[in-house]
Amino acid sequence: MSEEPLHRLYFHYSELPYSLRVVYTAALLVLGLAYLFAGIYLFYSYSGKDGNPMTLSYDDVVIAYSGSGKSSRLESALRGPMSAMLPREDSNTIIVWLQEGAERAKFESAIRPILDKRCMTCHDGSNPHLVNLNGYDNVQKVTERDTGAGIFTLVRVSHIHFFGITFIFFIMGSIFSHAYVRPVWFKCSVVALPFVCLVLDISSWYFTKLYHPFAWVVMLGGAVMALAFAYMWVVSMYQMWFSRTPQPVAERQSGDIGVVG
Ligand code: HEC
Repeated sequence: MSEEPLHRLYFHYSELPYSLRVVYTAALLVLGLAYLFAGIYLFYSYSGKDGNPMTLSYDDVVIAYSGSGKSSRLESALRGPMSAMLPREDSNTIIVWLQEGAERAKFESAIRPILDKRCMTCHDGSNPHLVNLNGYDNVQKVTERDTGAGIFTLVRVSHIHFFGITFIFFIMGSIFSHAYVRPVWFKCSVVALPFVCLVLDISSWYFTKLYHPFAWVVMLGGAVMALAFAYMWVVSMYQMWFSRTPQPVAERQSGDIGVVG
């Protein structure tokens, strides 16, 4: 065999004390469980966005980050269930105001009088089950178009993911580094790949707002990350407890290295 010699700081699982192998195994089991729950959570919070809750699709990702482009709740109500509550021209005035950005200045002069006259009998805020249309600040809650997750939300979720996932793959990569995998460049790529995917994935959340096809990068990044996780998990577990000591490792073992500890 034309093997590169083993690095003197490289230890295979079979050379590690039992206590370390047990802590690795426990960490792998819980991390695996955590990944499973993360997957279930991801599926249930995103899969239904495009109207089909059975699959997690490209459209789900686009809507989550960039919005459905659908009109605001107020506009939908005016065109739908509330259309009988006011004359058409008043309704048009409000819709034009909404489409021009729903600004406060014009609200007081042109919109508030209509709402006060036509809607306050029901929407004055006294019924907690009905949308409160009393004043600009309340109305604002139903004037927003669906533009997907806001930038601030993304920033919050980004920093949690950057910290959290770095920890996960640091632990995972450290455990996996004891596996015997050749060629070495492949082993190194598997360890590095999740970090590359993480950066691509998270930056694509923002880019999807600008250009929808970045949703593919979000999905691909997440999928490759999961694949790398699964690969490292299975190889680590297998080599730790089930496979025989690899030949080159067995050959360098001088016989007097104890494995119990
Ligand atoms: C007679 C009472 C009544 C009046 C008057 C009325 N509404 Fe409503 N409105 C309701 C009820 C009841 C609902 C809840 C209907 C539902 O959830 O299906 C509702 C729901 C809404 C919603 C929320 C729709 C959603 O997305 O859930 C909006 C927005 C709305 N009305 C706007 C208006 C506007 C604007 C006016 C005045 C032009 C108005 N309503 C007048 C009774 C009224």
